[in-house]
Order: sequence, then C-alpha cells, then structure tokens
Amino acid sequence: MLDSAPTVKFRVNGKDARIAGNPLRRLSKVLREDLGLTGTKVGCDAGDCGACTVLLDGAPVCACLTALGQVEGTTITTIEGLAQDTFGRRLQDAFLEVGAAQCGICTPGMLVAAKALLDVNPTPDDAAIADALGGVLCRCTGYRKIFDAVAKAASSARPVFQPPGRGNAVGARLARLDGREKVNGSDLFGADSIPPDALWLKIIRSPYHRAAFEIGNVDAFVVAHPGLVRVFTAADIAGRNAYGVIPPFADQPVFAQGETRFRGEAVAAVAGSAEAIECFDPESFPVTFSELPHIATIDAALREGAALIHSNRQGNILVRGRVSKGDAEAALANAEVVVEGDFETGFVEHAYVEPEAGFARRVGDRVEIVACTQSPYMDRDDVAAIIGIAPEAVRIIPTAVGGGFGSKLDLSVQPYIALAAWHLGRPVALVYSRSESMAATTKRHPAHMRVRIGATREGRLTAMDFSADFNTGAYASWGPTVAIRVPVHASGPYVMPAYRALTRAVHTNLVPAGAFRGFGVPQAAIAVEQIYDELARKLDIDSLEFRIANALTASDPTVTGQVLGAGVGFKACLEALRGPRREARAQARAFNINANGALRRGVGIAGMWYGCGNTSLSNPSTIRIGLKRDGRIALHQGAVDIGQGSNTVITQIAADAVGVLVDVLDRVSADTDLTPDCGKTSASRQTFITGRAAELAGKALRAAILRTANAGPDAIIRAGDRRIEVEEDSVVRTIDLAGEPFDTNGYVLTAEETFDPPTTPLDGNGQGNPYAIYGFGAHLAEVEVDVELGTAKVLKITAAHDVGRAINPALVEGQIEGGVAQGIGMALMEEFIPGRGENLHDYLIPTIGDVPPIVSILIEDPSPLGPMGAKGIGEQALIPTAPAILNAIFDATGARICRTPATPDRVRSAILLLRDRP
Ligand code: FES
Ligand code: FES
Repeated sequence: MLDSAPTVKFRVNGKDARIAGNPLRRLSKVLREDLGLTGTKVGCDAGDCGACTVLLDGAPVCACLTALGQVEGTTITTIEGLAQDTFGRRLQDAFLEVGAAQCGICTPGMLVAAKALLDVNPTPDDAAIADALGGVLCRCTGYRKIFDAVAKAASSARPVFQPPGRGNAVGARLARLDGREKVNGSDLFGADSIPPDALWLKIIRSPYHRAAFEIGNVDAFVVAHPGLVRVFTAADIAGRNAYGVIPPFADQPVFAQGETRFRGEAVAAVAGSAEAIECFDPESFPVTFSELPHIATIDAALREGAALIHSNRQGNILVRGRVSKGDAEAALANAEVVVEGDFETGFVEHAYVEPEAGFARRVGDRVEIVACTQSPYMDRDDVAAIIGIAPEAVRIIPTAVGGGFGSKLDLSVQPYIALAAWHLGRPVALVYSRSESMAATTKRHPAHMRVRIGATREGRLTAMDFSADFNTGAYASWGPTVAIRVPVHASGPYVMPAYRALTRAVHTNLVPAGAFRGFGVPQAAIAVEQIYDELARKLDIDSLEFRIANALTASDPTVTGQVLGAGVGFKACLEALRGPRREARAQARAFNINANGALRRGVGIAGMWYGCGNTSLSNPSTIRIGLKRDGRIALHQGAVDIGQGSNTVITQIAADAVGVLVDVLDRVSADTDLTPDCGKTSASRQTFITGRAAELAGKALRAAILRTANAGPDAIIRAGDRRIEVEEDSVVRTIDLAGEPFDTNGYVLTAEETFDPPTTPLDGNGQGNPYAIYGFGAHLAEVEVDVELGTAKVLKITAAHDVGRAINPALVEGQIEGGVAQGIGMALMEEFIPGRGENLHDYLIPTIGDVPPIVSILIEDPSPLGPMGAKGIGEQALIPTAPAILNAIFDATGARICRTPATPDRVRSAILLLRDRP
C-alpha cells in the first residue's frame, strides 16, 4: 500500500473503520475482503441482483456500485449488524420462522432492504414490500414467504420456535436447522472462506462459437507480468482432459485443444496474486483465435452433410430416446378425434444468485476442494481422473450453495483450482463473474417438439405420437438423461393405450445444455398439456374433467408398462382444483363481461408427473448414524442442501426413526471424507432416497440401543447427558456411555444403511420400471392479458401436489412456491441467447413484483417406498406452471402460444393472427 493512499473513515455496524487505498474500490470488496464481513454477497457486481445491499446512513444501496470514497463519514449497516436493532432481530426471526430463506444467498440483501423499509414504514402492505424489495432477486423462494416474513416482523406477533416432541418431527413445520446462519450472515458460500494467502485464477475463454486457436509463449507472458505465477493449459493435465456427469459420455475438455466448440470454452488459466489477477487484462494473453463456421440450431446440426461437432457422433446426435407401447400410428389412424401441434422452447439460464466459486489446497498427496456443488462424490471422481490421482486423494468439502437447480451438478471451478493447487502447492481460488457463469455453464435444453394425440368421441385417450429434438450444445452434460427421461414422461400421468415417443439430443456449437429442474420434462409438458386442452376443446369436454377421466391410477399401466400399485395421487390433485377453478372462472367471466379496455382474463390448468431418482439406474444413498459418548447422536448425511432443505428434512426423518428429539442430533454435513455417499442433489431424489436411508439407519440404531438395553420395540429412548435412558412399562434402564468403548467409527454404537430404489432397465421399446416412485401434481393459473400490448400477468397460482407425506410442510410449500416462480419465468420472460445477454439486466427472471399469491394444496398419498411415505417435490413444482399459464392465455385470448417464452411480441403476434383469420 502506498503511504500516500487516502484513508477513508466510516462506521460499520457500530464500529469505526479506517480503510486506506484506492477510493474507487467497490464497497462490497472492502466489506468482504478488508473487514471480513462476508455476509454481504456478490451476485453480479453490476447493480442487478441486490445481493450486496447494505444500508448507507439508513438507506439501502448496492455495495457493488458504491465506491469506497463515497462512504467517507457515513454509517454502514450490513447483515452482521442487523441484530443490533429491534426490527433487524424481528426480521431475522421471522425469515427463519416462516421459511423465507432457502439457499440463503439473497437473504442478507433481502433482510437489509426490509429493515430499511420497516424503519420508514413500520406497517407496510404488500405493495410497499414489493416496492422496497423489488431490487433484490431471489431464485429459490418465489418470494411469497418473504412477503409473509416482512409482514410478520412488522406485526406484534413474536416468533414461535417450538421444537416438535418425540416421534413428531415428521410433519412438523420445523424451522430450517441451518437457517440461523442464513439470516445472520454467517453462512459461508463458495466465495466466503477463501484463505487470504490464496493465489487466484483467471480463465481465458473463446470469444467465438467455434474457433481454432494457438497459444503463444506463456513463459515470456508470465515473466512480463509481475504477480502472475503460471499459466495452465491442456499440456498440464496428467490425467484425462475430459469430464462429464455421465462417465461413458464424458467429453468436455478442461482446456480445449486446438479448437473450441462453444463461446466461453476455456483454453487456459492464468494463476497469480489476487492483485495481479484483478488487474489482469485477458486481452493481453498470448492466444490467437480464428473464428470458424459454427452450427447454432438443431435443424442446421441435423442437415445432411453438416459438419460433425464430435467425429464419433454421427449426424451430430448424442443419444436417442424411445418409449413405444402398442401401435400408436394405427391407433391414431383409427382415433375418432385427433389434434396435433408443434412447439418450441428456448435456452433457460439457471440464474442462481451465487456464481460458481471456491478454492482448493494441496494437503500432502491429497487435494481438498472447498466449493459450491450439488454432487460431491461425482466431483471427486472427475477431478481425480483429470489430475491423474486416486479418487481417495481428492476431498470435496461443499460450501453452502447459493442455488443450483441442476447446473452445479456439473464441474465448473473445481478442475481449475484443483489442478493449480496441486501444481503450485498453495491455495488457489476462482470465483466466476456473472457473465462468465452465464456464458460457460449449462442451460435448460431448447426443444422442438411435435405432438399428435387421439381420443374417442367420448373423451377417452387412445394414442399419442410425440417426437422431440433437444439442443444439447457442444458437450454431453446431461443430454443423455434428458433424451431418455422425456419419452417416459411425455404422455403426462394419463392412461395412454398406444404410445410412441422418440427423442434426440443434438449437438450444436452452443453452450452445453444440462440439468435444470425437470430434465426436459417441463418442455414436454408445455407441448403436451396444451394439446390436451386442444383435444378437450375439440371434444367439447371440460378440460379438467377430461383430465380426471383419463388420469392414471395405481392400477393402470404407465406408458412403460409399469403398474405403480400405490401412491398415485394425481386424480386427487386434479379434483382438489375443481372448487378453486370454478371460483376463478366465475371471477374471470365477470371481469371479461365488464371489461371495456384491452384487459382479458383467463384460467388454465395443467398436470404433471415426475419419476424420483435416476432413470433405470442404480442411485443409492448411504446414511451413517452414531451414538456418541456424550449421549448425543451424530447424523452423517451427505445430501448437499442447496436450499431445498435436506439438512432439516433428513434430520427430521432420522429423529423419528430413532425415536428421539430433533435437537439431540448433531448433523455432519456433506464432506467426502466424513459422510458416506448420498448421491447427487438432483432428480427430486434426496427426500425419497437419502430420506429412506436415514429412516433405515435410524431404525437400525434404535434397534441396537434397545438390544443393548434389553428392551422391546416400543420402549422410549431418551438421549441425555453422557447416558441413554430406555423406558419400558414405566421401568427406566440407564446406559452409562462415558466408559463405553468406541467402535471403528468412533461411536459407542453405529448404524449405516443404504437405500437404492428398485428399478428395472428399459428394453428396446422403453418398457420396464424406470422409477420406483413418481410425484404428481396439477396447477391452476389465473392470468390477465393486455390484448393490445401482448403482456400477460399471472394473478394467482393454485398448486396441488401429491407429496406422499409432507415431512416438513413449510419446506414443501417453499419448494412449490419457488418452482412456480421459475415456471412463470419460463412461461413469460426467460430465454438465454448465447453470446448475448450474459448478465441479469438483459436476462430477466421474476422479481418480487412478478410472483402472485400461490396457494399450495398438499395431497398425501403415501408411497410404500418413501420414508414415512414421502416423495420428492423439487422438480415437480415447476413442471405444470408454464403450460397452465399458456392454457390461461389461450382462455383469455383464444391465441395458442407455441413458442416460449410468451413474450409480449409473441402473444401479440398470436392474437393478430387470430384477427387475420378468415
Ligand atoms: S452484486 Fe451488487 S447488485 Fe448484484
Ligand atoms: S433463497 Fe433467495 S436466492 Fe436462494
């Protein structure tokens, strides 16, 4: 630091701060790096996300857009100082109590903005709350519980944190067990625990969709740039320069060699001091790119003679999917009524508020990676293969994850920081910028879908023919999963006597498409649920009653020939919407009769189903649970909580399985050295699969304790101070734990159980049992359309979901509300265009003002395999929202939207087409 650097004096959270240095530095960096106040988050560095909101003399500002020099003489309040004030404490408690924080990355900004509101308006209405929080984005919650929390903090009601009694944890609205850290700013995300002595990386990426490139003299480059220490390229990879979430398809290079296949692909990484990397201009890096012709669309990729993006994938087809039952063609030819349609969807960006981040360090002959991820064991294996070391030599320590939704299943920063730390012997960090995150990480697959469905004149479905091509981008990622999962689900949860669904995942020179909440099923639902409405209309049958009449039941075979036997609550979901729909339609009719302007209202519905877990593949979870000498119980649960609540839900299940209170369980969260493999957090599998493993392990520990106490199965267990009490028939036996020997796990007693859902492979026609259980649901959307402008506004969503058993109803509602918000985005506003809009002001996601009231209806049709009957809800919640909205737009206007998102220009064009019709 120069002696002459000016010193800026201000107060932060009641303390004096003096910071010398460049007065143009961002306040967010000063708070996080100089003052250690990492509760202030950075999601964009551009004023778009609001995660960095702090109070400057009581007013909310974006710390990323505030220069250090601007805060001279001011008072700053960050999330860490919020509890110094009554409203701050009340807000933190209310957010925790109602479940307004999921992943928690937006929570500091939300809380600070809410505090500013309550300071000037202690009794705000919803409009005032939406206005005050409109600049803070949340991708998880759907904002409804944030409204509730702010209103609660403003009221005289005090929070009630009543822990559930013994045996009553399952079903309780237990506050998130890892929630206190999320509301007080102490939760550590990928960018929050980077050691001060870490070196940093900058990735050099292709500026073209396809390019040849040549790297110059990197040694001379490093020498010429003080502070830089080394450049890494493909030549530095001792192991395999390829990774991928599905090992047989692993094809994405850590560093491209000779040619890049998409804009944003990495060619090199530059390591250096934090200062050197911050000042480093990527344009100065010695690389020459030569743009090559590229393929951007499915049609171009499939065209005869098209250049192959991977020489071993003929026709640019990565994989094909197929499910066929009966003779769909003949059945359609014989159907009394047939409707058909052609639909397209675009890329959708995950837009989690936390860009990918983390650091790695070498520890002897091992490397440890501390980063945000959804899949620690997959990361471990892939990184080990890249560096060329054994998987056991890699330790993955997941940080808190600021949203994932599927994209953080794939590697991002991990191979770069691990490789650099391995070679340099120092901690190495990498935090993606927002534009880097958007350009280089996976997206929802764009789809082109064609559907024909036939029925009898009485309204019985007879056949469906579905085909879809998915733009899977340059590399495989989850393309095979999408291509295989969609044909199983495209029918929706209806009885379909004859069926053919064919899919292809097609390579282009665009960003890889991967997993995003639903693995292609939401795209298929957009097509098929609209066609079901068209079919009902042609038959002149009410669209809800048509669905109810054709709804799958426990005794009907699915399109893969599977008879589920139990746990099929789809009809109940549809029936639950009858009353709300009747009311909504009456209100829309009344509005439309009286409307004399451009506004029209409509009501739409859509159904869904979703198989929990991998498709026809083993996907086990293992839970370890141990009785400690202090009388407490250690729960090793490796399911990464990305905001969905597995830290809480798995603990609830385990507590009831053992028969003890939740608060005697000490959670050991995901860490490949400490927790057995619970698989990845995806495909709505954690509550179901890891939850079932927790139930089995908890019961096994209970049995071991009862055996030790020589007690029967109904005895009461009380975990206590260095002892366990077991009560049976009013007789209490005490087991003194202090002197008990340890087992090999370091516990007095340990139970470890694995659950792998029973599935069978699909045959050549896609017949078999791909999933052990399915979740079901149906949404009702109420929409208002301005027929002159083409704008559509969602007024209300009623969401009925069969969740088997709601382990924690508050968390289930949170998943539903968050899924609905993402569904609204997918329906109306979100489309990522590679090479354009790699930021959060061009790429729009729903703000607090875009998400209407959401009514969740929980149907509990227990699954025989799920823990206490539970099924997953993560993906399910999003799937029916978009088609329900599109059906409502049709109801309001008569215009069918076949290309999403239904942006105003598309809606307006569809309305004008109607007017032009003879
Ligand atoms: S980080 Fe400041 S607004 Fe996003
Ligand atoms: S809880 Fe708001 S972004 Fe995750």
